[in-house]
Amino acid sequence: SILIVDFGSQVTQLIARRVREAGVYSEIVPFSSAREAFDRLNPKGIILSGGPASVNDDDPPLAPDEFYEAGIPILGICYGQQVMAKQLGGSVLSHDMGEFGRAFVDVDTDCTLFDGMWKPGERHQVWMSHGDKVTELAPGFSTVATSDGAPFAITADEDRRFYGIQFHPEVVHTPDGAKLLANFVRHVCGLAGDWTMAEFRKTKLEEIRAQVGDGKVICGLSGGVDSAVAAVLIHEAVGDQLTCVYVDHGLMRLNETEQVVSLFRDHYNIPLVAVDAEKTFLDGLAGVTDPEKKRKFIGGAFIDLFEAEAKKVGGADFLAQGTLYPDVIESVSFTGGPSVTIKSHHNVGGLPERMNMELVEPLRELFKDEVRDLGRELGLPEGFVGRHPFPGPGLAIRIPGEVTKERCDILRKADAIYLEEIRNAGLYDAIWQAFAVLLPVKTVGVMGDGRTYDSVCGLRAVTSTDGMTADVYPFDASFLTRVATRIVNEVQGINRVVYDYTSKPPGTIEWE
Ligand code: XMP
Repeated sequence: SILIVDFGSQVTQLIARRVREAGVYSEIVPFSSAREAFDRLNPKGIILSGGPASVNDDDPPLAPDEFYEAGIPILGICYGQQVMAKQLGGSVLSHDMGEFGRAFVDVDTDCTLFDGMWKPGERHQVWMSHGDKVTELAPGFSTVATSDGAPFAITADEDRRFYGIQFHPEVVHTPDGAKLLANFVRHVCGLAGDWTMAEFRKTKLEEIRAQVGDGKVICGLSGGVDSAVAAVLIHEAVGDQLTCVYVDHGLMRLNETEQVVSLFRDHYNIPLVAVDAEKTFLDGLAGVTDPEKKRKFIGGAFIDLFEAEAKKVGGADFLAQGTLYPDVIESVSFTGGPSVTIKSHHNVGGLPERMNMELVEPLRELFKDEVRDLGRELGLPEGFVGRHPFPGPGLAIRIPGEVTKERCDILRKADAIYLEEIRNAGLYDAIWQAFAVLLPVKTVGVMGDGRTYDSVCGLRAVTSTDGMTADVYPFDASFLTRVATRIVNEVQGINRVVYDYTSKPPGTIEWE
């Protein structure tokens, strides 16, 4: 395995993902507990992540000294490179002008790190994000590649198999980055690359059992893939120590509730409590138009209902959540400094403290596509695993303006037509997420010989691999025309359909 020491970079999880994609098991541990993890894992290689600190700060985060004596390869990325330089006797300059974004490195000499990939004299695109930089090499190191802003873009001590890189190979904007990391774990560390999702499942089952013991677990099902996969995994680990609670907030899509309930009760035989809370949610949303207020209300009401149901089933020691990695980074500040909240993501944050429960979050390290793989591994039906993501606050955030039962019903019909046409055209799996939104705008139309004055429906479809960035799906004009015609003809209350042509960024996927 590979031990990834986390110094707090926003993209540390991407390192783990790339290593997993190379078929190698890895664990991320905070620098403060790296020593214990090392003893437990006995890794074949170490990766030191980037991070917001400066090695010249008072008391900077460091890697345990023993790591440098262990005789195994070490790759330091960004702060990881700087900390390695500093700890081994080099120096680092702080508050430099830095390099941010796209940059190019010039390869000076051959290096085991990029054997078979890069050759001296070549220039390669990479992604940089640093203020500090190494200015003096530690003994034993030499420079193998340079960039304009970082003379020591890649440094290597081939004898000890220590490598430092200033850029970020883990992000997609370093086109050869994944290959570089794969080369490190396979070629430099000599790992076979035969780790699979089946192994992940086995490891997680053991972890869940170790954490839960004979405690009781409660899991909120949202109807989405994430909570379903978490629930099935936990059920496999601890059986009927798990109870699922499904709070139907009345903001689900057409027939969705029935499908979820039947999958869990009939197919998996997992104990499931289903609560019909449509009225509570719609009453609470009456008159609310601000997107964050909607999100906050729904999150809060969900927690209240969930807590009440959990008490009814006799309480629980653990709360299971299908939290994914993007949820973790988009709503948590990573530098310890202020970070901007784009959207308050709907989760049951706050509940664990209130109910004195510990969290079980087996999917925290995974991206959506990996969760799908795990779902398949667990035998969830393909039609369920392949479902587009659906946000916790449901249709409420797809109805800008006030949410009413009537508007939910209108939107449900339009959305069902749109998705039916997408499926019929064989496009469902090529799209990350597609949905209709109902706008609080009325426009004039003409149907038959009469004037209409009804709402506008927006259609959204994007491609993405992790929901963090997204491109617009380029439908044929004839497809969109067909959908628009059907929606206006079949759904009372809508007389105009528009297509959303905004990528993310600058747009977000959902409209609120
Ligand atoms: P945005 O709109 O932020 O969405 O670009 C990114 C992805 O997250 C989903 N999303 C949510 N999922 N609770 C969730 O479980 C939420 O509150 C929430 N808000 C957005 C969205 O559907 C997209 O897949």
